[in-house]
Amino acid sequence: MCGIVGFTGSTPCKDILLTGLSLLEYRGYDSAGIAILDGARGMDVFRVKGRVEGLVKLVGNTPLFGTTGIGHTRWATHGKPSEVNAHPHRDCTGKIAIVHNGIIENFSELRTQLIEQGHVFISETDSEVIAHLLERAYEGDMRVAMTETIAQLEGAYTIVAVHADHPDEIVAVRKSSPLVVGCAEGCAVVASDTPALIEVTRDVVFPDDGVVCVLHSGGTVDYFDGDGVPVSPETVHIDWSIDEAKLGGYEDFMDKEIAEQPRVVRDTLAGRVKDGRVIIDELALTAEDIAAIDRVYIIACGTSYHAGLIAKNLIEAWSRIPCDVEVASEFRYRDPIVSPSTLVIAVSQSGETADTVEAVQLARTHGARVFAITNSVGSRITRESDGVIYAQAGPETCVAATKSFLAQVVALTLVALYLGQARGHLTCAQVRMFYREMQRLPEQITAILDDTTSIEHAAEIIDGATSALFIGRGIGATTCYEGALKLKEISYVHAEAFAAGEIKHGPIALVDEAMPVVALMIKSATRDKMVSNIAEVRARGAKVIGIATQGDPDAEHICDEVIYIPAVRECFSAITASVVLQVLARCVAKTRGCDVDKPRNLAKSVTVE
Ligand code: M6R
Repeated sequence: MCGIVGFTGSTPCKDILLTGLSLLEYRGYDSAGIAILDGARGMDVFRVKGRVEGLVKLVGNTPLFGTTGIGHTRWATHGKPSEVNAHPHRDCTGKIAIVHNGIIENFSELRTQLIEQGHVFISETDSEVIAHLLERAYEGDMRVAMTETIAQLEGAYTIVAVHADHPDEIVAVRKSSPLVVGCAEGCAVVASDTPALIEVTRDVVFPDDGVVCVLHSGGTVDYFDGDGVPVSPETVHIDWSIDEAKLGGYEDFMDKEIAEQPRVVRDTLAGRVKDGRVIIDELALTAEDIAAIDRVYIIACGTSYHAGLIAKNLIEAWSRIPCDVEVASEFRYRDPIVSPSTLVIAVSQSGETADTVEAVQLARTHGARVFAITNSVGSRITRESDGVIYAQAGPETCVAATKSFLAQVVALTLVALYLGQARGHLTCAQVRMFYREMQRLPEQITAILDDTTSIEHAAEIIDGATSALFIGRGIGATTCYEGALKLKEISYVHAEAFAAGEIKHGPIALVDEAMPVVALMIKSATRDKMVSNIAEVRARGAKVIGIATQGDPDAEHICDEVIYIPAVRECFSAITASVVLQVLARCVAKTRGCDVDKPRNLAKSVTVE
């Protein structure tokens, strides 16, 4: 959950490291630091509690000419955010510096052992043991020391290390945690995610677990397996550019990423239906395979889980295959009914979410066929799954998922159409019709985003509240779960979502004048039921923000504020309504002065359990 960057080359690396860290700050932002090797001065280390901008101020104009260095932005696990707990951590000699992402599960016993041997620890982190283990193992070769060190570690890690006696070299390794390596003329770079090295190269390597990478300042990288045997990992081309990872005139990344959604929907749909047939070659399923599926499991966390809940409605409606959606952290620790006839779809924007990847592994041990829907080329989930469908969202920097969510919903909708058609429940004509309607979604989203005045007015109802309820039915209910998550995570307003039919069974006790209610009353089979539910909460004093289909005859009379959206078929309504809920959450968060891109306590990739 931390950002890592390392550079070795022939030009001073200070600015490269600081820029790289700011591009990766979405991965963790409670402290930051860099270590730079400078032949004459040994090693300079700067660390701060707080954001990268604080680190930039601290480093200031200090003349730093070293051309090899490492940097880190932290999301605290062991030890509170503080300068002393910030990375890089050093060994007792001060010659070795490391940055680490992940959790060393056996750090306590290693620490005790190292202290007994005379090592002195200065932080509360699990990571510091790595620096001391490297010190203990080092006999002149950092690669060998790293191989020996990781043999003693339990848990997940990305480790990047430097030694002052090797100012032209960086050593890196990973296990169950992200790492990407690249090189160009006269330099080599390493990072926990591609944005930090895309300006140097778009041809990158995602090393396998346990492969030790040795980066040389001349612009080469050597890779070794656990026995020290050289290996040649595959190079992957990244097809997005650095401009996509920059703000480009928007106020914040959330604003930019919301605005990109028409393009994202278009790209995710592109080329998926030909002659009335849904094409998802990535699934590589034969007609017999599809006929044999007796259950679909969608496993995911957070926003991706909500995309799964929406898809359940479509998969069951169109293919008649039972579909269960489960939070990955629950699935992996129980005894789910999974067999070779189960189709598992794992959904993860980052492809690195520890619980989701572990759940994938569990499903595969039971013989299930597992497909991933992810936004991240080369991510862990892509190696663990039988097939991958890429959501075409491009880099997402705001911690709150927006465009990646829409891409997931669209991709899952295509999978639902595919299964429905393959099982003989949807004709080519129906597929064509649905696809045509989906192709209109980008312009409908654009229409919503072109005039957000009514959303801004509605946000005023929530601005001063401490809690809000979201209610809907069917796909509207699942859309509400995501709307409530968006609001709470970026504005810190407590929000809960309920299937509207459930409110009389308890939640309505919460309703009074101080509890705004966001109600999805879009055209659907249950729209009239929603009208009654709205009346019930209004009768108890709630101010209601209604999201209704353009032309709805009642909305204005029964809601305090109405946000109208273009008419779409109910099965696609999550796609348009979610855009409204994203904008609503952002408006509330902005008014409350929150940092929408980096909400407190969160990080973009949850690579630890
Ligand atoms: O990368 P993933 O999709 O696996 O991440 C899962 C959740 O951590 C993520 O969706 C999270 O809930 C969102 N960032 C919230 O907006």
